[in-house]
Parts: sequence; structure tokens; C-alpha cells
Amino acid sequence: MKVLTILGARPQFIKAAAVSRVIREEVTELIVHTGQHYDANMSDIFFEELNIPKPDYHLGIGSGNHGKQTGEMLAKIEDIILTEQPNFVLVYGDTNSTLAGALAAAKLHIPIVHIEAGLRSFNKKMPEEVNRILTDHVSSLLLCPTETAIQNLTNEHITDGVYNIGDVMYDAVLYNKTLVESTSTILERENLNVKDYLLITIHRAENTDDVDRMKSILDAFSQIPDNKVWPIHPRTKKKLEDYGFQLDQIPNLQVIEPVGYLDMLALEMNAKKIVTDSGGVQKEAYFAEVPCVTVRDQTEWVETLIEDANILTGTDTDKIVEAVQKQVAPSYTPVFGDGKTAEKVLDLLKNYLT
Ligand code: UD1
Ligand code: UDP
Repeated sequence: MKVLTILGARPQFIKAAAVSRVIREEVTELIVHTGQHYDANMSDIFFEELNIPKPDYHLGIGSGNHGKQTGEMLAKIEDIILTEQPNFVLVYGDTNSTLAGALAAAKLHIPIVHIEAGLRSFNKKMPEEVNRILTDHVSSLLLCPTETAIQNLTNEHITDGVYNIGDVMYDAVLYNKTLVESTSTILERENLNVKDYLLITIHRAENTDDVDRMKSILDAFSQIPDNKVWPIHPRTKKKLEDYGFQLDQIPNLQVIEPVGYLDMLALEMNAKKIVTDSGGVQKEAYFAEVPCVTVRDQTEWVETLIEDANILTGTDTDKIVEAVQKQVAPSYTPVFGDGKTAEKVLDLLKNYLT
């Protein structure tokens, strides 16, 4: 069995590390890296520290407007599918790389396996929402992380090939947790004390590309006296420079470059609270039982909202400040699978062909 896996963005490398390790025991996997993320700390670092096999194809597409970026990926992935004739094309999540892989495969009648199928924010202005709806509607195996995702697909009349296999990011955390504890030195390097800082990540286009929303978020950070550490996404860094916002005016804020996965898990596990608009980080906060504040208007990960473990504030300054100050003590409920999601992917691939 030959599987062609399409990767391009940071969270996809992390998910693939967990899945590739398992499926390669019985499957021939070829990896295509679209080049959507290309800085060393957005790409290479994950391949190195998570032992992801080197990509068989690197498309070097880079950044660009959605149509151009997705279109260039589509054309190149089509050539690779024609050459390799895989049994499946495997895509993760909801990025432009996901959609390009799915479209290329659908046109060539290659079954698509979508890991993280069925998520919805119900906001079609998000590029991710368009990518995931279109990908789900052409996929043959829709591998959902939660019951909510299954229900979302049912509501769109997609029921064939749909399975709740749990969340591969939970596999990744369980696999790497001990390694994080024994190897990460990020707290020492950044002079941070356990449970004495907020961890911030912001990169969602709906925030970064709207000057008013970004100002409102930064105003909240200015009003929050706690120590804060912010590994800044290159998109956000660029936008803040364009807007002329000065992060050094914000008290007790350390802005650092994006970090590797093990350091990121260490920052999450030891944070007092996390403020984010990331999908993956909301879940990792919940896995680590660290309270989270999500500066978005919707979340796909509604399970994390239980007992205010994750508080959805939008970008209203007062709401963010209030949510950060609220005392909550989340405890993880196992709604994201059993940490053996990758094994279920392998089983379903094998079953599909028999
Ligand atoms: C993409 C995904 C988003 C995902 C995120 C994970 C889409 C539409 N969006 O958003 O769903 O949550 O990845 O991090 O696919 N840049 C660099 N160096 C890099 C990568 C990006 O400087 O290595 C800068 C460029 O200015 C680029 C901008 O970041 O234009 C945005 O990158 P892009 O990949 O288009 O989208 P993300 O915001 O990273
Ligand atoms: N992450 C990381 N380093 C960072 C920021 C995030 O390794 O500096 C990891 C994080 O732990 C999670 C994933 O990247 O596993 C989330 O990716 P991101 O926030 O870029 O995208 P999203 O999940 O929102 O699509």
C-alpha cells in the first residue's frame, strides 16, 4: 500500500510525526512538503526534533495570496500523484496545503484520507473553514477527532467513511511528554518560573489582518500585569510591524521567536494561563489542564469550553482581561480519544483496501 502524505504548515508536521511513526510499520509512505511554511523554526526544527522522515518531494511554494499559493501546490501535487499512483492521499487539518492535496487527488480519483475531518467554526470568512468543508466533501475516509465533528458531518449529510478516531495531537502530547520534562530548557533560557507567566500565541488571519482587533488584544496585554511570554508567529510579527505597534511598550512581555514543539509543550505545561487563537494550542492547554483564553469569536474545539477550561472572549479588551483574571482549575475529560489515534488510522487504511 502506498500513501502520499501532503504537509505544509507547522501543526501538520506535529500531527504527521505521530501518524507516520505508526503507519510506516506497514505502509509505504511518501511525504510531500509544499513549502507553505519554510523558516527553519516553522518547519525544519519539527522534522529534526520529531524524527519525521525527510520529505520525498519539496515543492518550495512559499507564501502568497490564497489562489496563487493553492493553485501552484495543486499543479505540482497533481504531477506527483500521476507519477507515484498512490492508493491514498493523506491530508491533515484545514490549511491551503490540505485543500490543494485534496483537490489534486479528487480530480484523479485517488481516495482522500482527511485527518481532523468534520471541524466547523461556521464562519466561512475563515480560510480554514472553506478549506475543511471542501476537503471533507471530497474525502473517502473522514477521520474525526470528536463526536462534535461526526455530528457536523452528519448535518452536511456526510456519513460514509466517517469515523471518530480521537485526536492525533493527543497521541503527540502523550508520546513526547516525558521527553519534554527531561530535555526542554526553555524556562531557564527565558528566565521563566513555573506557573508564573502567561503564554501567548496569536496568528489567526481574522485577528492579525484586522488592525482594530489586534489593537484591542494588545490593549488587553498592556492591562494584564503578569509576566507574559509570546513566541511570535512570522505572520503576526510582520503585521504588527506594518501597523507600527510597539510590543516593547507592553509591561512584563517577552517576545521570542517561534519555538520547537518540545519547548512549546514545556511552555504550555508550566504556564499559569494560555492566551491564544490557535486551534492546536487550545487543545494542548486542555490536555495539560492549564486554563486557556481564546481570543476568537468561535472555536471548533467546543469540548474545551467545559467549566471555563477555555474561555472564548473574542477580541474585546475588557473580556480578555476579565477572563485572564478569572480563577479556574480545569480537569481533563477524555473526549479526544485514548492516545492511540495513529493505530486507528493504520487499521482504517488497511480495511479500506480489503
Ligand atoms: C497557516 C494556515 C493556518 C494555520 C497556520 C499554522 C492557511 C490558509 N492558513 O496560516 O490555518 O493555523 O498556518 O501556523 O493555510 N511566514 C513566514 N515564514 C514562514 C511561514 C509564513 O514569514 O515560514 C509569513 C509570511 O509573511 C506569510 C505569512 O506568514 O505570508 C502567512 O503564512 P501562511 O502560510 O500563508 O499562513 P499562516 O498564517 O501561517
Ligand atoms: N507550536 C510550536 N511552537 C510555537 C507555537 C506553536 O511548536 O512557537 C505548536 C503547538 O504546540 C501546536 C501547534 O504548533 O502543536 C499549533 O500550531 P499553530 O498554532 O501554528 O496552528 P493551528 O493549530 O492554529 O492551526
